[in-house]
Amino acid sequence: MKIALGCDHGGLEIKNAIKKYLENNGHTVIDVGTNTTDSVDYPVYAKAVCKEIQEKTAELGILCCGTGIGMSMAANKQDGIRAAVLSDEYCCEMTRRHNDANVLCLGGRVIDSEKAVKLAEIFITTEFEGGRHINRINMYS
Ligand code: RB5
Repeated sequence: MKIALGCDHGGLEIKNAIKKYLENNGHTVIDVGTNTTDSVDYPVYAKAVCKEIQEKTAELGILCCGTGIGMSMAANKQDGIRAAVLSDEYCCEMTRRHNDANVLCLGGRVIDSEKAVKLAEIFITTEFEGGRHINRINMYS
């Protein structure tokens, strides 16, 4: 699977852990940065990941900042993007099954790298259920 990754300084550590996991498991990673701990503006990276999805160069995206909140707010302003910020396994599974989320937003100051990798794994391996959920998703905009 092709997955776009982006982060700011607050999400760098968990993004790198997710990147390592994805690459070790045969996925193609498009890493839009950032790649240092210098303070940066998270919307730049949110938009870059969303662009990869809009242009279909990536199937799913993962964005990491301090809380995941700013990334999700920025991502959800982009056409065709359904971004979900969460920190537990149940919500991660359900946002794929029911919301067909295409961007996962995580907080590096909320969860550790082990949890981030677990959530990334659930996100990319859980399928959308379709059916009645399609109509509801079409009502978002
Ligand atoms: C940066 O300090 C922080 O505001 C950012 O990483 C994120 O948590 C915003 O929602």
